[in-house]
Amino acid sequence: MDVDLHQLFARAAAEGARHRVTVADHPLQQPSLDRESLAAAFGGPLGADPTDPGRVVDDLIAAAHPGLVGTVGPRFFGFVIGGASPAATAADLLATGWDQCAYNEVLSPAAAAAERAAGNWTKQLLGLPETASVGFVTGAQAANTVGLAVGRQRVLRDVGWDVARDGLFGAPPIVIVASEERHATIDRAARLLGFGTRSIEPVATNAQGAIDVDRLRTTLDALRDRPALVCLQAGNVNTGACDDLRSATTLAHERGAWVHVDGAFGLWAAASPSTAHLVDGVELADSWGTDAHKWLNVPYDCGLAFCADAALHAATMSYAASYLTGSGADSDYVLGDLTPESSRRARGFAVWAALRELGTGGVADLVERTCALARRMAERLAAGGASIHNDVVLNQVLVSIGDPSRTDAIVDAVQREGTCWVGGTTWHGQRLIRVSVSNATTTERDIDVSADAILRGAASS
Ligand SMILES: Cc1ncc(COP(=O)(O)O)c(C=O)c1O
Repeated sequence: MDVDLHQLFARAAAEGARHRVTVADHPLQQPSLDRESLAAAFGGPLGADPTDPGRVVDDLIAAAHPGLVGTVGPRFFGFVIGGASPAATAADLLATGWDQCAYNEVLSPAAAAAERAAGNWTKQLLGLPETASVGFVTGAQAANTVGLAVGRQRVLRDVGWDVARDGLFGAPPIVIVASEERHATIDRAARLLGFGTRSIEPVATNAQGAIDVDRLRTTLDALRDRPALVCLQAGNVNTGACDDLRSATTLAHERGAWVHVDGAFGLWAAASPSTAHLVDGVELADSWGTDAHKWLNVPYDCGLAFCADAALHAATMSYAASYLTGSGADSDYVLGDLTPESSRRARGFAVWAALRELGTGGVADLVERTCALARRMAERLAAGGASIHNDVVLNQVLVSIGDPSRTDAIVDAVQREGTCWVGGTTWHGQRLIRVSVSNATTTERDIDVSADAILRGAASS
């Protein structure tokens, strides 16, 4: 079958661009088809004969179109959904077109160089040690899992147990100390790594959802000499609050614990002088996880796992096989030694492009601007009679309008009306509207029309 790749790839890229351009101009819509209709559009029996690639792409576009959500648009405030910057998106198209495998230098010297450069730039922006290792993973879930895996290796080594060889059966039990408001991915990491969620020792938080350092001290004291992993948080998923990283890490280190910081979005506070104080002391931790696909506005999927002890990071995550040309003890650690996967998409191109497009000033501006927009949203809503439940220190806003028991009805009305998309959450026992401003293309006007839409939704529900 003769395929015109230029035409085929141009068609796919043009459709992506069409989606991006129209998502900013049109009302944000819920998928207009139900699950059965979409399943039917994609379904049917797989034919025995090949299909022309151009036809496949046309059919894919037609089938997917009604089920696409405008998450990349400027008025999608649910979850913590970043946009996708123009250069990063184009770089990701290139990563796919080039189809590089980012396992090691032999498979793609370019992917390796891009990851190293982008990793170094990111460490600089986030205030992390220059010597820290960086693994490019799927997202913060994977980054948190890597951080805790490396910590597991270290704290068990400290008590004379080789977990890589002997596993966890019979090992001295590890305690994971984390705030009551940790992200749920910490619990999943605990399950995946064989600790089980019962090994998590929750620590109470303050009124804003940051870990209570006095309670942390009491918890750590009660553990005596048990091996411990302390999970701190930069950016509570509801409030944006950051733990007191300096005090908490110092306490944990005095007791020999490993400190991991989950900073899926909040670590980026370090990149702006106006918010850097929120993550003061971040450099003291042992491992960190963050996302590029949230606040940095890199397309999905892309996260980064950092570790202060690069050699231990590589020793924990690497594997060896005789056919793996370009890897092994005689070479420096390779990129795939720092991630849970070996074969990987070349994620570094998009991160490199996003950072190059913005520069250090642009990243600082992105953080400052989205925080200012979150504050503007809070002010507009408060002026319309809403209650704001958190100190808007970053890009997250928690809102109720009238009795919080009405929250789900309001969220539903706002989503149906379609000007913007907000979700609901339960925080400190109340159902609240949750707004996350994480998209670089969001403007003051987007905030104003969205605040009006939320107030309209409240009035109509
Ligand atoms: C604090 C925090 N940690 C972890 C995650 C999980 O991130 P991902 O979905 O990229 O794995 C999130 C997602 O919102 C988050 O906010």
